[in-house]
Amino acid sequence: MAVPLFDTSSALQPLREELRAAVAHVLDSGHYILGPEVEAFEREMAAYCGAKHAVGVANGTEALTVALRAMGVGPGDDVVVPSFTFYASAEAIPPTGARPVFCDVDPQTFCINAETVAEVLTPHTKAVIAVHLFGNVAPVGEIEALGVPVLEDAAQSAGSTGTHGRPGSLGTAATFSFFPSKNLGCFGDGGMILTSDDGVAEQARVLRFHGSHDKVTYDLVGYNSRLDELQAAILRVQLPHLDAWSDGRRAAAAAYAELGLGELVTLPRATVGSAPAWHLYVVRHPEADLLAEALGEQGIGCRAYYRTPVHAQPAMRAWGEGLDLPGTDEAARTHLAIPISPVLSREQAGEVAGAVRAAL
Ligand SMILES: Cc1ncc(COP(=O)(O)O)c(C=O)c1O
Repeated sequence: MAVPLFDTSSALQPLREELRAAVAHVLDSGHYILGPEVEAFEREMAAYCGAKHAVGVANGTEALTVALRAMGVGPGDDVVVPSFTFYASAEAIPPTGARPVFCDVDPQTFCINAETVAEVLTPHTKAVIAVHLFGNVAPVGEIEALGVPVLEDAAQSAGSTGTHGRPGSLGTAATFSFFPSKNLGCFGDGGMILTSDDGVAEQARVLRFHGSHDKVTYDLVGYNSRLDELQAAILRVQLPHLDAWSDGRRAAAAAYAELGLGELVTLPRATVGSAPAWHLYVVRHPEADLLAEALGEQGIGCRAYYRTPVHAQPAMRAWGEGLDLPGTDEAARTHLAIPISPVLSREQAGEVAGAVRAAL
């Protein structure tokens, strides 16, 4: 039995009629940009995450840039970011005028921690981007205890919970991506900034609309970065189901563990006190590429996402050259995402575990 790497459609099947109705409602409403659906979704997402404010923007990458600027990051500042992450986490920094400073991750959790951040702090550090990678929840509290504000990159962690609450409520601000394959995905591009800081929220609202408070006077060079009504309406239908979908992801991860997958490969370790809604289920093995080849031959979807870490990407040469990040190198070399979804059955998990056993 073939098992796909992810399944973005099965969980949406029962919602098709509701989704069609939501889309039709927007088409008939005549409001397409920053209207009542966006306002309602901002309220609902803020309440879900436990944050005071939510600001819908065009995508998760611009959400990071806008949030950093709203937090006061600008030219001459340093922003700490992991190198083992999706490229956008770091790409969002230079447009603010600040410099990305790469830090290491713990390969067991794929997340940064106080130790890896402390190693790279400078007198110019203005913020740390804590990426909740693959749905695991980075230890925001212990990083903030170092005395630096944290921006959570929660693009991959909708539905996860940490010891002190959900991603979106743990740092000074947080950002989400609603790219279709995310845990909470729309049918196009979308993003959001969450914060409980009134000033950061206000500044983010201004920045997303061309740097203007009133659409008459333009105080800042900002962005045209807005969530549209159609995407917000689609996300409103899905949000009430996010917890059940996250339970499905956790059940699939539990099935892998129960089936003994941990005897064959290294399973991802949830950070202390967290319950990750695994966006990707990423195992490690010294011969990850050979394993991928063998799994592919057996019809098992798998993929290495970040074989070349961000600091080694050509565009990051100015900031990444010559860095020694052993945890990042280890994670980059050995990781492999295997199938996960809200609806991955125990039978499918068994098929994957059996294929891994046969491959090794
Ligand atoms: C960790 C992380 N940060 C940022 C982004 C950027 O989000 P978007 O594709 O919506 O710009 C993504 C996803 O693509 C991501 O996985």
